[in-house]
Amino acid sequence: MYIGVDYYPEQWPKTRWSEDVRMMKELGINVVRIAEFGWSLMEPEEGKYDFSLYDEAIDLFHKNGIDVVLGTPTATPPAWMVKKYPEILPVDENGVTISFGARRHYTVNSATYQEFSRKITAEMAKRYGSHTAVIGWQTDNEYGHEKSDRSYGDEDRARFQDWLKEEYGTLEKLNETWGTVFWSQTYTEWDQIPVPRKVYQEHNPSLLLDFDRFCAEAYNRYNRLQVDELKKHIEERQFITHNFVYTGLALNQKEMAKDLDFISFDNYPVWGGLPEPITPANIARQHDLCRGTKSGKGYWVMEELSGAQGWGRIGYLPRPGHIQLWTYQAISRGAEAIVYFRWRAARFGTEEFCHGILDHDGKPKRKFEEVKRVIDNMKVFGDEWIESDYKADVAVYHDPENDWAWQIQPQSEVFNYVDEFLRFYEPAHAMNAKTDIISDVEELDGYKVVVVPVYFLTKNGFTDKLKQFAAAGGTVVLTYRSGVKDRFNVVTDQTLPGDLSELAGIEVNEYESLQSGQINRVEGTAGPIEGMTSDAAVWCDLIDPAGAEVLAEYSDTFYSGTAAITKNRTGKGTVYYIGSGLDQEILRPLYREIFAQSGVPVLETPEGVEVLRRGDRETEFLSVLNHNTDSAYTVELPEGEWKDPVTEEVYQGPMEVGALGSIVLRKKS
Ligand code: GLA
Repeated sequence: MYIGVDYYPEQWPKTRWSEDVRMMKELGINVVRIAEFGWSLMEPEEGKYDFSLYDEAIDLFHKNGIDVVLGTPTATPPAWMVKKYPEILPVDENGVTISFGARRHYTVNSATYQEFSRKITAEMAKRYGSHTAVIGWQTDNEYGHEKSDRSYGDEDRARFQDWLKEEYGTLEKLNETWGTVFWSQTYTEWDQIPVPRKVYQEHNPSLLLDFDRFCAEAYNRYNRLQVDELKKHIEERQFITHNFVYTGLALNQKEMAKDLDFISFDNYPVWGGLPEPITPANIARQHDLCRGTKSGKGYWVMEELSGAQGWGRIGYLPRPGHIQLWTYQAISRGAEAIVYFRWRAARFGTEEFCHGILDHDGKPKRKFEEVKRVIDNMKVFGDEWIESDYKADVAVYHDPENDWAWQIQPQSEVFNYVDEFLRFYEPAHAMNAKTDIISDVEELDGYKVVVVPVYFLTKNGFTDKLKQFAAAGGTVVLTYRSGVKDRFNVVTDQTLPGDLSELAGIEVNEYESLQSGQINRVEGTAGPIEGMTSDAAVWCDLIDPAGAEVLAEYSDTFYSGTAAITKNRTGKGTVYYIGSGLDQEILRPLYREIFAQSGVPVLETPEGVEVLRRGDRETEFLSVLNHNTDSAYTVELPEGEWKDPVTEEVYQGPMEVGALGSIVLRKKS
């Protein structure tokens, strides 16, 4: 198993390198990622290349048995390039050109930039494509991150128009599909079509969605340009990956992953200015997204947070135990390698306060010791653990295009896609049900339950899969605002939930968007939630049962007594419809019943304690992760004896796990 650090040799005197390598070896580091921001060093002037610094660094790592992942440096085009070729710069929706001075200052639609990117990639690949120490490549860095996913310049617009021609064939088809008759937007020539720069009101929703699709495909084409160039010169043994972030960007990670050997992910449970980490469920969501990006294939965490992070504002200081906890959580959900960000906090530049294993003084302290413990432990059980199977029972639906459609029209000022996804993902996470995050491309057989949060932008193929899954005995959980739009972001002319109406056994004849501070109430009227009450926030679908059983009703405003949650038996299966943004207090008992009836194994644990099983009868691992910072908890282990491979201690039944405690146990055969 690879465990390493993100290292920036160019930011330290060469006299320091050997001390760094000595300490890395003391830790047991066996891989470094370097060079992803080194363009101005590697091409100090147009067409002149100088790899001497990286030659020296790579040779030093090679001599010390540390392997190297090389980043192509295209996230930071040099100053000379921007001065001579300003057309490479991105343009924001206000028509303002993004300045040189930080990073990601390029548009993937610039032909000039594509050519410079191809050349630097080729030169690096020719130089290091057969270097024994180089095991793989990372293309660029975090495509689309930091608002760089969309660019609204002239070349972007020309390419968008080309893309639309390809997509629609004729203007008539585009005009009809988009409904451009609305507000007199009918296009009579392709070059009349704008990129969605600033308007007084809001652009056509279909244009906006297609622009996001275009931006995502433009990044895929750009990445493929680098991959194709690398493959011309590197040995087959060297992998190609990219380090994604999952923040609702106009990026389609699954599509891009088809051109990568495996995907990587930058895991930051907390960042600049935040007073505390995001929830364990939100971290788990991102890992499930990673694992689902290339159909369950293992991934690298190419940047695992080790120290407090931030630029002008520093975020929460990770407590003793957090490095191990977040490392174990990553591996328990599918990470196969961990590369800690960063080795040492930089003393200059924008990231002076992005802390690492070492701080500015370069001395080994608390974080260094914790990483040492993690690596020592991973030496005991790492490879077997990362090779153990992960088979989920519950699939939770996420389509980036649905996320984009919600970003385009949130419809309530308090709607946030990730929050609402988590609302319907969290009950499964809280009960430690094993989840996958799927989109419309996966098959559903093999799952017991499919949860489909806020299925606003529908895909016919997926809706058909849901119908077949339920008919065959599966359980589907639909939520409010489902069935509204077709893939072109146009509203259905069927009574809601549109094509899902028969499946759910309901109609939604009216609905209400709730704003900040607006709350309706819901009361359980049957089943496991009878008598329970909950806030109803964000949205209320007024449900008219059409065959479905009512499980809960609204208890406020003119639609008090109207159904809010329903259950419909259809075929051999069951379809639930949750018509509002309800609390976990009512969702968990509902999900508990759903899981019990569908045979989904759950593990009840105290709030904030995450338990995950991996493997099979021969080799089964259990990770017990207490995300609580100030309290220990007792966890009832699954049946059998469980051995800590590190301490050789054997546990059975109740086991106490300390605050921020994390332990990996192996089933004692
Ligand atoms: C991102 C980037 C890194 C660095 C870190 C700081 O993940 O990939 O270059 O900026 O954040 O936390």
